[in-house]
Amino acid sequence: MISVVILGAGNVATHLYKTFNKTDDIRVNQWFSRKISSIKSYKNEVDITDDLTQLKEADLYFIAVSDDAISNLSSKLPFENRLVVHTSGTVNIHDLDKKNRRGVFYPLQTFSKDASLDFANVPICIEAIDRSDRKILKSLAQAIGSNSHKVNTEQRKALHLAAVFVNNFTNQMYRIAHEITEAEGVEFDILKPLILETAKKIQSLSPYMAQTGPAKRNDKKTIHKHLELLKNEQHKAIYELMTASIQKTQGVATRPTPNSKKNN
Ligand SMILES: NC(=O)c1ccc[n+]([C@@H]2O[C@H](COP(=O)([O-])OP(=O)(O)OC[C@H]3O[C@@H](n4cnc5c(N)ncnc54)[C@H](OP(=O)(O)O)[C@@H]3O)[C@@H](O)[C@H]2O)c1
Repeated sequence: MISVVILGAGNVATHLYKTFNKTDDIRVNQWFSRKISSIKSYKNEVDITDDLTQLKEADLYFIAVSDDAISNLSSKLPFENRLVVHTSGTVNIHDLDKKNRRGVFYPLQTFSKDASLDFANVPICIEAIDRSDRKILKSLAQAIGSNSHKVNTEQRKALHLAAVFVNNFTNQMYRIAHEITEAEGVEFDILKPLILETAKKIQSLSPYMAQTGPAKRNDKKTIHKHLELLKNEQHKAIYELMTASIQKTQGVATRPTPNSKKNN
């Protein structure tokens, strides 16, 4: 049995609490939030507190707060030599106060408080200063049904950066597509099978091989028509940038436009 204390009450902290709480091998000793109102609804299931001086003893402390607050919160913990981990993709392990044993338990998934999530679909990127602590983090990931991956800080940062492209930027593309369809009164839902197929296809093909469309084919007239249709200047700039990026990746030979010739 591994005992834990969770600090923070946002998306990740809430999902960690829920999954730990239903796992036999893990006991949540306490849940801390600087705003007690955020976790009040759990008070009959778990000990809650907004007072760092009242933190209970546990094998492991999870700091699941905003990236910028991790370092400061870790330095305020009123104990030493215990295992303290954060859940960020980018914050350095050394940003945790060195009075405690330090680790990272980065769940590479998108968490929203109200969207349910199966931790079997959450790869956990693990880092720890001590090998024995890494083993504890590995068994914890195993206990919640997640695969864990030992990574170093640079690899974790690269994964987080890549995650911004595959998740946040892709989602913004959905949003732009939504605005484009809405403007013509056509349902965004008609695009949903394409969205699913795009994600499904790269399970068996590389992103390079899976690419299709006017940029890869270098269908100049279609590209021109699309640019004419786009009224939003920012969307137009994104279209041009993405088209250029695809063509560079795919080795499409493009003739310079009169403007770019002048600039050269
Ligand atoms: N969301 C994701 O998809 C995701 C995925 C992987 C990793 N992560 C990482 O997980 C961590 C938490 O992210 P999240 O999405 O759960 O954030 P979130 O939903 O925005 O919640 C942030 C939490 O941090 C607390 N907090 C902020 N500043 C604080 C301070 N100075 N002292 C104490 N508590 C403070 C907030 O408390 P108040 O409510 O009182 O402001 C809130 O409970 C971050 O390191 C993030 O990089 C997030």
